[in-house]
Amino acid sequence: MIDLRSDTVTKPTQAMRDAMYHAEVGDDVYKEDPTVCRLEELAASKLGKEDALFVTSGTQGNQIAVLTHCRSGNEVLLEQDSHIFYYEGGAISAFAGVQTRTISGVRGEMNPDELELAIRGNDIHEPETGLICMENTHNRAGGAIVSVENMKAVYNVAKKHAIPVHLDGARLFNAAVAKQCSIKEFTQNADTVQICLSKGLGAPIGSLIAGSSEIITRARKWRKRLGGGLRQVGTIAAPGIIALTEMVDRLSEDHHHAKVLAEGIGAVVGLEVINNVDTNIVLVDVSGKRMSSTEYIDKLSENGIKAVSFGPSVVRFTTHYDVTSQQITQALKTINSL
Ligand SMILES: Cc1ncc(COP(=O)(O)O)c(C=O)c1O
Repeated sequence: MIDLRSDTVTKPTQAMRDAMYHAEVGDDVYKEDPTVCRLEELAASKLGKEDALFVTSGTQGNQIAVLTHCRSGNEVLLEQDSHIFYYEGGAISAFAGVQTRTISGVRGEMNPDELELAIRGNDIHEPETGLICMENTHNRAGGAIVSVENMKAVYNVAKKHAIPVHLDGARLFNAAVAKQCSIKEFTQNADTVQICLSKGLGAPIGSLIAGSSEIITRARKWRKRLGGGLRQVGTIAAPGIIALTEMVDRLSEDHHHAKVLAEGIGAVVGLEVINNVDTNIVLVDVSGKRMSSTEYIDKLSENGIKAVSFGPSVVRFTTHYDVTSQQITQALKTINSL
């Protein structure tokens, strides 16, 4: 099987497995796990923030960020196709008691003027705007890179109104690698950032939230409340250190594979690549094949390729560490023959 469903399907490398086996551990709720402390320091320094917190998943990281920034009854402004709005089971309403207000985006970018108009005033009838969230790279926009300029403009609007900003950076390293710039160019336009170690970077588990020491201290309390305070967890933080030190630069290979795949698919009659393929995601409209996305995915699966549906006629292919150039060539041959 050539598994192009997601960059979450990668298996830990041998170096990661060795690091897990040999990890020095302690009780992390007492902040006594040296491996977790090392991972948190490393993440904070890479992201240009004072402190970072190891959490179990991207969803948990985003939830903790919202809980930390907002009070119940606040309104959160976020892009209409963002993961926090679309794919987290309504968790921010369920747990933080906030309501969402979505802003339409173009390739994941919100218009700063439109965003500013959505910020609430002091009217007693209105909820307070408690947080603005961005997502980079943007999953539903096909791994699109939200530009530093757009992030800066959004951040400036937020600061003008004294509203905190959270960045869902589950795949942020992809943006920095593709743009050949420091990841800090993106993170300086957010008060908190969440990054995933298990998307594209190959670690089996884990995310981090980074921000000021004050915010991360409060976030640590929310993590505990949610039952996310773990004990000898260096065993799972150890592969995260390898993810951050050894697996970032190679993301360019995934981007190259995605471009090759998109070019090949673009030449197939009945298939249309509908995103710009900035990073490792290719979105394909299959309606020209007179099939729904799920029918097309079933056909792919019968022929040794896995992909996911991204709407009634759109199929998502994602490249990652466990897909080789040969497999990309093979996948294209198969897609051509269908
Ligand atoms: C942009 C984005 N944010 C957050 C998440 C959630 O991460 P997790 O699956 O680790 O909860 C995902 C998962 O795919 C994602 O794509």
